[in-house]
Amino acid sequence: MTDKKVTRIGVLTSGGDAPGMNAAVRAVVRTGIYHGLEVFAVMRGYQGMIENDIVKMESRSVANIIQRGGTILKTARSKEFFTPEGRKKAYENLKSHGIDGLIVIGGDGSFNGALKFSQEFDIPCIGLPGTIDKDIAGSDFTIGFDTAVNTAISAIDKIRDTADAHDRLFIIEVMGRDAGYIALHSGVATGAEHVLIPEHKTDIDEVINSLQEKEKRKKLMNLIVVAEGDEFGGGEQVTKYIKEKLPNADIKITVLGHIQRGGSPTCADRILASRMGYHAVLCLMEGRNNVMVGIVNDQMHYTPLVKAVKAKQQIDEDWFDMIKILAS
Ligand code: F6P
Repeated sequence: MTDKKVTRIGVLTSGGDAPGMNAAVRAVVRTGIYHGLEVFAVMRGYQGMIENDIVKMESRSVANIIQRGGTILKTARSKEFFTPEGRKKAYENLKSHGIDGLIVIGGDGSFNGALKFSQEFDIPCIGLPGTIDKDIAGSDFTIGFDTAVNTAISAIDKIRDTADAHDRLFIIEVMGRDAGYIALHSGVATGAEHVLIPEHKTDIDEVINSLQEKEKRKKLMNLIVVAEGDEFGGGEQVTKYIKEKLPNADIKITVLGHIQRGGSPTCADRILASRMGYHAVLCLMEGRNNVMVGIVNDQMHYTPLVKAVKAKQQIDEDWFDMIKILAS
């Protein structure tokens, strides 16, 4: 906590974009202005902070964006910000605009940056979890996850139609380099037979056995959802392995890719983002520093950034028992 009152705040989006980031920016800008603060947009994440790409926002600057995917502030993954020189330049630029509080919307990489920055300099930072991966502790959901999962579901439902028509095995790779939540949720919601994710060790030969057993009882249409960062190296690798073991099976692969990052945010993401953006400004006004704003059991929840970047959410084993039973 700090007693210093903020008067000019900055907001940025950083790392992979996530649908709902615009709704969060809108909430920050309008809540800040309502409370008499000046609000500045830092463009292109930390890179724009280093390059002094900073613009004053008005209430109208965020008109007509609540429904838009992407981020009007643009985003980047800045390597330079992870150097002391980069952070110093960024600090001097914020100071030159009189910015005395910062709101960072991004994932764990972005929070690591915010943490380092606010430990070195006298600018309080508040984090908002904006990532389709949902791989941050301290919030039940992250901005963008619901939209990404719904995009994956609508694509997998379409794949199911054609897979069923041809009695095929489909491997579908979804996003998640280090996290399997998109795979887990979209797999369960589409009735997939198997879900392969980085957080859970898969016995691939057991998967093969179960496919062989299904073949015997003429259940030839099967869906396997694989997170891009699973232990085998993603959908292509899994497909290769299964093809070797089941040479007669009709197997196809679809990699969903970046369509999961775009599109208009769902209602859930717009509301999550609006609540978080609104409360992030209140946090700065109350003198909070280095916390991530989350929502747990529908209540606002504040986690020190240091914990939010270290802890991962745990995935219960019982998800996998359920998947097996429901797809049997
Ligand atoms: O962090 C979100 C995410 O979409 C991950 O799921 C994915 O692995 C990564 O970003 C891809 O990042 P980029 O678009 O920079 O390749």
